Amino acid sequence: MTITTMETRGTVVFPENFVWGAATASYQIEGAAKEDGRGPSIWDTFSATPGKVRDGDTGEVACDHYHRYRDDVALMKELSLNAYRFSVAWPRIQATGTGPASPAGLGFYDRLVDTLLEAGITPYVTLYHWDLPQALEDLGGWTSRETAYHFAEYAAIMYGRLGDRVSHWTTLNEPWVSAFLGYGSGVHAPGRTSPHDALKAAHHLLLGHGLAARTLRSAGAEEIMLVVNSAPVLTPAQVNDPDAAVSEADAAAVHRIHTLLTRQFLDPALFGSYPEEVLAAAGRNGGTAHILDGDLEIINAPIDLVGINYYNPCVVEDGPGLGADPAWPGSEGVRFAPADAPVTAMGWPIVPSGLSRLLVRLSQDYPQVGLMVTENGAAFDDVVEDGRVHDGGRLAYLEGHLRAAHEAIAAGADLRGYLVWSLLDNFEWAEGYSHRFGVVHVDYTTQVRTPKDSALWYRDVIGNNGFSW
Ligand code: NOJ
Repeated sequence: MTITTMETRGTVVFPENFVWGAATASYQIEGAAKEDGRGPSIWDTFSATPGKVRDGDTGEVACDHYHRYRDDVALMKELSLNAYRFSVAWPRIQATGTGPASPAGLGFYDRLVDTLLEAGITPYVTLYHWDLPQALEDLGGWTSRETAYHFAEYAAIMYGRLGDRVSHWTTLNEPWVSAFLGYGSGVHAPGRTSPHDALKAAHHLLLGHGLAARTLRSAGAEEIMLVVNSAPVLTPAQVNDPDAAVSEADAAAVHRIHTLLTRQFLDPALFGSYPEEVLAAAGRNGGTAHILDGDLEIINAPIDLVGINYYNPCVVEDGPGLGADPAWPGSEGVRFAPADAPVTAMGWPIVPSGLSRLLVRLSQDYPQVGLMVTENGAAFDDVVEDGRVHDGGRLAYLEGHLRAAHEAIAAGADLRGYLVWSLLDNFEWAEGYSHRFGVVHVDYTTQVRTPKDSALWYRDVIGNNGFSW
């Protein structure tokens, strides 16, 4: 397959009804961490632990969206968004992760949904974007099977409250990150460092997804989505030449990482089976006793869409390197390699063609679901000058990736929409507030929002359902 983005001028028009929007997540923007009965989440605990988050930043205030959501929705309307993907903070709904729902917590999301609908913006609700109630972590977190069942109960509560107005439901955001950075490398909350725990957490996250998807479906949910941090896995030579020859040994490394990153989640969810490499990795890291008979059937609950969060490709080659990394159990014989490409402020390589490769491949491998880009964007060191933010780097990034998304559609990918990450600058997890991903700048001292040039460009893209360059 050859996909090129070399034309110097052109126009792209997206399919009718293509969904255009922006995404955020509760802990990254809401603040109000101790208000209205919200319980602590693992991210409150983690960010309060010295040395875990850059500069000791926390989500305690963040963008203060909990109090400013009306203005933020008005801003979304000004930017012509037709969809907004946000997540619900589980500990606002159930402070300890179980028991009766908090009326104040439900009330917030109720008002948010109503405000969105009044503005003509379709809500896309994510149930889990990493802020697990700390009380559940104290009982084992995602390494405990019980957490999956509690998650399904919480899903039922949310559907019961919002299901009359919300049609688009996502169970989990990026379970790979929750499991392998949270319980493997420990760079994310809860900060555990055991490959066995990470593999167990991955399985129980999937179980929670399956149980919640079944609950949502039987309650009447129209559309159910699982969001993954997938990426094309490339050799260094393939970064700039999709047709570069790949040695057998490098192809095995590529296959291995694609399996651990993407197939580990999508195969169970969409085919009801684990790739053998994943079972072998679990076998070598404490065993598979946590995978019970019948689990895969539950996990294989019918879903409608897979959401793709794409930022950059994974670049790997054959060689020693990752085997000992607790974030990558099963990666023996693989080395991560640098990409010959410009980078964002995160140091992440900018490879737009990776998005078209990925979308085309996933559409072929998993034809039973539609796809949506649920996150795509970039961090740059933005500054406000005379009330404007000239973020040409981000604008070019978005333009390149939208061209790539359009190419994927032309090549047959069933892509239904695109959501930029993120609406607002926000709490970038272990990086704190040091990196700005928003199309809207946030001054964290005054909470003033300033749409960046990329936001104004994106507004026009939405208005025209496409763009010229
Ligand atoms: C994916 C995550 O879902 C989101 O929370 C994060 O901020 C972005 N990646 C950027 O790292």
